[in-house]
Amino acid sequence: MNNSIDVFATSLSLSEEEVRGKTVVVIDVLRASSTILTGLANGAKGVIPAEDMGAAGKVAQNLDQSRYLLCGERDAKNIEGYDLGNSPSEYTKEVVEGKTLILTTTNGTKAIARCSQAAKIVIAGFLNLSAVAQVLKNETAEIIIVCSGWKGRLSLEDVLCAGNLISKIFEGNLPEDAKDGAKVAMGLYERFGNEITKTVSSTNHAKRLAELGYASDIADCCLSDKYDFVPVLSEGVIHK
Ligand code: MLT
Repeated sequence: MNNSIDVFATSLSLSEEEVRGKTVVVIDVLRASSTILTGLANGAKGVIPAEDMGAAGKVAQNLDQSRYLLCGERDAKNIEGYDLGNSPSEYTKEVVEGKTLILTTTNGTKAIARCSQAAKIVIAGFLNLSAVAQVLKNETAEIIIVCSGWKGRLSLEDVLCAGNLISKIFEGNLPEDAKDGAKVAMGLYERFGNEITKTVSSTNHAKRLAELGYASDIADCCLSDKYDFVPVLSEGVIHK
């Protein structure tokens, strides 16, 4: 196992050089990671993350209309003309099975786009954390956890999830080589790890979501290990 691990509190300061050749874990607990996981768990063929609506439109132009769904949000609100928003509750088997999901979100899919030079990109949230930890225990490349945050600012729920992941990978002990970001995330997890849903419910973005009528998404996104698969981005598509 490689003992070098770092956490970026947002993707804004990431440079191509920082991720080149490394294994990157992208986390957007509320809600892009959780939506991607739910869509794939319910039979979506794949998720194409698009940095912005222009990129999403271009992808859609090249696909047969019966095979994809245009999905996403801006500022957590649904986008006019899109098939789905970004609430995991919308991504049922009946709706997504067999479809390719083209997804653009305010922060999560931008974070994924900024990691394009990584050797490997995996998607994590509380919903699949043990599965991701299991895979990363055998990782030999340097690991960087990228939290999506909110418009360049830290989102506590993402850093808390990063700390939980580090704790699982290293069985509660920070490796000597851990960088500052990893130490902060682990510290946050040690402080709040025993009350994850309560802590996440009090975050800035949870309050924003509750005001928009998505309060039930918060507990849904905090469930531990609902899924046991690790989505990986390959040739522009995230697969189970
Ligand atoms: C994002 O990418 O910023 C989020 O997923 C926003 C949301 O909650 O829809």
